[in-house]
Amino acid sequence: MNDPLFQLDGRVVAVTGGLGQLGRQFTQTLLDRGARVAILDKRAGAVEPPEFQNASGENLLILHADILQRASLEHALALIEDRWETPNGLINNAALDSPPNSPVEENGPFETYPESSWDQVMAVNAKGVFLCCQVIGGAMAKAGRGSIVNVCSIYGLVSPDQRIYAYRETDKGPFFKPVAYSASKSSLLNLTRYLATYWAPRGVRVNCVTFGGVFNRQDEEFLKGYTARVPLGRMAREDEYNGVIVFLTSDASSYMTGSNVVLDGGWTAW
Ligand SMILES: NC(=O)c1ccc[n+]([C@@H]2O[C@H](COP(=O)([O-])OP(=O)(O)OC[C@H]3O[C@@H](n4cnc5c(N)ncnc54)[C@H](O)[C@@H]3O)[C@@H](O)[C@H]2O)c1
Repeated sequence: MNDPLFQLDGRVVAVTGGLGQLGRQFTQTLLDRGARVAILDKRAGAVEPPEFQNASGENLLILHADILQRASLEHALALIEDRWETPNGLINNAALDSPPNSPVEENGPFETYPESSWDQVMAVNAKGVFLCCQVIGGAMAKAGRGSIVNVCSIYGLVSPDQRIYAYRETDKGPFFKPVAYSASKSSLLNLTRYLATYWAPRGVRVNCVTFGGVFNRQDEEFLKGYTARVPLGRMAREDEYNGVIVFLTSDASSYMTGSNVVLDGGWTAW
């Protein structure tokens, strides 16, 4: 872990959604390279936190925060600054795919996709990232340094291939992967470019990472359809996005801003 190019010694990095499947991975990999990590997650306190290796009060803060609430983010930022300093890195990783307990129309035709689902998904995935950038990114700009990573998805670059979801059709009708996740994720591509140019004079870099699907014990039928669409022939392992997070938060990417790094097993290549 002692490569100066990718060294994060003492660097403070805020990871939103750090208790989720990928956020946990990012937290561990940042800790492994010497960063001090603040997890901002709305489930903090409600779920048992994962066991992080080599973590202590010195290098890990797990904070309850809702990225939809400016006051909650300001409170979290104040705690981080009080304990350490203004973050040098911000990983905008928290997101919502479909709202929990959404109505059956959630996966029905676009024409009847519920407005309430649209509002909730857009709120977390677009406005939540915007608020984190305003509050935490704003503090980083004031400090005159930092790197922001916005987490996007292949479904924000290209449309979901509805054919791989068709097997979930029931007697109630066809099954569609809904629209809001795609629309919300694609909004981050230009939020990234906007802020990259806006904050370039203040020393804050802003980039996007576009990820393909991660294996998480999906059902066989889905795996068959999904992996047939991937040139590498499989879903990502949950640790395969750690490298890009280290790259983008370290000085290895010091000349990079406004970019989108695609890690998708080749999904968007054909
Ligand atoms: N898992 C995949 O297959 C995949 C593929 C492409 C992109 N992504 C993206 O990667 C990121 C992480 O995905 P994941 O699979 O680890 O998700 P996850 O659902 O496992 O974790 C998301 C975390 O965000 C937190 N969160 C949600 N709303 C919040 C809010 N309002 N305030 C604070 N925290 C909130 C949740 O509590 C949860 O811990 C997301 O941006 C997702 O869109 C994931």
